[in-house]
Amino acid sequence: MSVSPSSFSSSSSSPSRSAVAGRLRSAGCVFAEDEADLLISAARTPDDLAAMVERRVSGLPLEHVLGWAEFCGLRLAVEPGVFVPRPRSEFLIRQASALARPGAVVVDLCCGSGALGAALAAALGRAELHAVDVEPAAVRCARRNLAPLGGRVHEGDLYGPLPDDLRGRVDVVIASPPYVPTASIGLLPPEARLHEPAVALDGGADGLDVARRVAAAAPGWLAPGGCLLIETGELQAASAAEAVTAAGLAARVAHCDDLDATAVIGTLPA
Ligand SMILES: C[S@@+](CC[C@H](N)C(=O)[O-])C[C@H]1O[C@@H](n2cnc3c(N)ncnc32)[C@H](O)[C@@H]1O
Repeated sequence: MSVSPSSFSSSSSSPSRSAVAGRLRSAGCVFAEDEADLLISAARTPDDLAAMVERRVSGLPLEHVLGWAEFCGLRLAVEPGVFVPRPRSEFLIRQASALARPGAVVVDLCCGSGALGAALAAALGRAELHAVDVEPAAVRCARRNLAPLGGRVHEGDLYGPLPDDLRGRVDVVIASPPYVPTASIGLLPPEARLHEPAVALDGGADGLDVARRVAAAAPGWLAPGGCLLIETGELQAASAAEAVTAAGLAARVAHCDDLDATAVIGTLPA
């Protein structure tokens, strides 16, 4: 059944699941039934549901409408204007979990909502977690998500706002920096292009501007034998690995076809 917007705003009873799904489908939502279920269970009143459906139909990412995203089995707060964690980043967490031990000192650079740091800390069971982002909205969100894990969130440019006493004792740095080449930003789906900040997406001419800075400064923060894991695109991996090698780390590339995910992993000699 297809339903007009007025069916949502003028009715005091809740629209049916099929009406919600029909409205979402007509607006191009591919997983309309699943999204309808999530919106119906999140809405407190029929008016609330109508407003949420209209926000979704207007193109806002589902996670921004709901106020949360699922990542590695965790439910994390994601405000409008904050990057929505992507399923492919779960690969970075798998790789990092295999390298770190419980109690590790972990730094999540370019943390956004803090999803990656939260997932790694949860996987390790115990971690000293620090996260950094340059965007105030992301920092606010990450503080909400990481406080229950005892994580500290710092606002600023990459390693700049980290406490000095972390120098030389970080076991794992994870980073999912912006890595879309500037010329490709226009090709992104509207949900990303219009609703996520450019600073979360635009990685400069070849997409590696921020990743190179992450790699170059890593040796000053890593403990001997510590690891740096950077998410990149598959085509950028060789250049990103060069940057990691140039910083003095032993670099390798890991790739997962299923998630279309690539990580460059560098290890500081012990
Ligand atoms: C691709 S998003 C990844 C967010 C998060 N790690 C995730 O996967 O959900 C990149 C993030 O890097 C942040 N960022 C960009 N440049 C930065 C910088 N120089 N220092 C710190 N954070 C930065 C953006 O604000 C954005 O939150």
